[in-house]
Amino acid sequence: MPDLAALDWDALDRLRAVFLAREAAASGPYWQNHSALAAYDATYGERIGWKWDALLAELRLRAWRPPAGTTLVDFGCGSGVAGRRVLAAFGAAHFSGLALLDHSPEAIAFAAARARATYPGLKVQTTPEPTEPFTLVVSHVLNELAPEARAELLDLAARAAAVLWVEPGTHADGRALAAVRDELRRAHRIVAPCTHRENCPLFAEANARDWCHFFAAPPPGVQNAPDWVRFAHRAGVDLRSQAYACLVLENSALPSSPAAPGSPLLAPSPSLPAPASSLPTPSSSLLAPSSFLPARLLGRPEVFKPYARFLACDASGLHWLELAKRTDPALVKRLAKDPPLPLYALAHDGRKVSAATPLFDPPATSAADEDLQTLA
Ligand SMILES: C[S@@+](CC[C@H](N)C(=O)[O-])C[C@H]1O[C@@H](n2cnc3c(N)ncnc32)[C@H](O)[C@@H]1O
Repeated sequence: MPDLAALDWDALDRLRAVFLAREAAASGPYWQNHSALAAYDATYGERIGWKWDALLAELRLRAWRPPAGTTLVDFGCGSGVAGRRVLAAFGAAHFSGLALLDHSPEAIAFAAARARATYPGLKVQTTPEPTEPFTLVVSHVLNELAPEARAELLDLAARAAAVLWVEPGTHADGRALAAVRDELRRAHRIVAPCTHRENCPLFAEANARDWCHFFAAPPPGVQNAPDWVRFAHRAGVDLRSQAYACLVLENSALPSSPAAPGSPLLAPSPSLPAPASSLPTPSSSLLAPSSFLPARLLGRPEVFKPYARFLACDASGLHWLELAKRTDPALVKRLAKDPPLPLYALAHDGRKVSAATPLFDPPATSAADEDLQTLA
């Protein structure tokens, strides 16, 4: 864990003010110097890293990887935490190099130095045009972009072989990323979070209050570490769980990733061309294939004595569903404390669940799985 006591706390306070005032962030580069980036990297950046760890743990569990040999492009890299987490998850050798893009030259220099120190053999590119083909990483950038910059980023994403994108799990940021998903889905297969390619149901009028988000836990010990508690207090953040929104895509022009369990979980779509890879069939033979849809549970399930209640997204839309304890006592119990990855084959009538089979169930708890189990 970094030595938080030695950080430039004044710089962190200034950054907090920038992040709270979105317009200030949109008005231009705000990294003042190396010490501000170092302070960010050890605190805000590390916290963002826990969200990446949660998403990357899901992708590993599903045996999904970005295409090998691509340049890893970290757009809006800041201190470079997202790119480094992705390199750590898939191995630096999986990529042909790392390209760092940011409108702040200080940020690019900091992220490049950190990446070279961590991965001495890695080719690190700091020029604006990344070598193709590339895998695009975007983290906590969207709400800082003016419309033209957003359009340029979406053009870049449309050219990418794969996209891994994490944003804060707020109502505004989650819905902003869902809008990106709707714009990019024609050229890409959706790996996460969606189990279908329909219009995102969040944009139906009835769902205006909802958003797509998940939670990542900090590593053990963080919540009681005095410097982290001091940071959380000063920054006004809750360290117990970090809400995030995510989007993972792979370009439809490329061969699809291997069949289940790594393939995207796509339900057949009447409105879009059929994806190359399809839904992995749940191992349980208890469910007739026509009676269930692959679904993702959003946010956190609420567990009461006789039932669990959750928001589920599938190709038929977004539904607040109840799973009665008598229908699946073991699963209701698990949802309270130790939920599986929130991807299920669900049979429901729009209100009540009649069967729920987890599509990816991790083996017994290990330290590496702990983040996963906080997702639902
Ligand atoms: C909140 S920071 C996130 C940094 C890093 N991606 C992370 O997750 O920790 C947002 C980053 O986006 C960069 N940024 C904002 N607008 C940009 C633009 N139009 N083009 C490139 N980078 C931009 C900022 O300089 C900053 O480094």
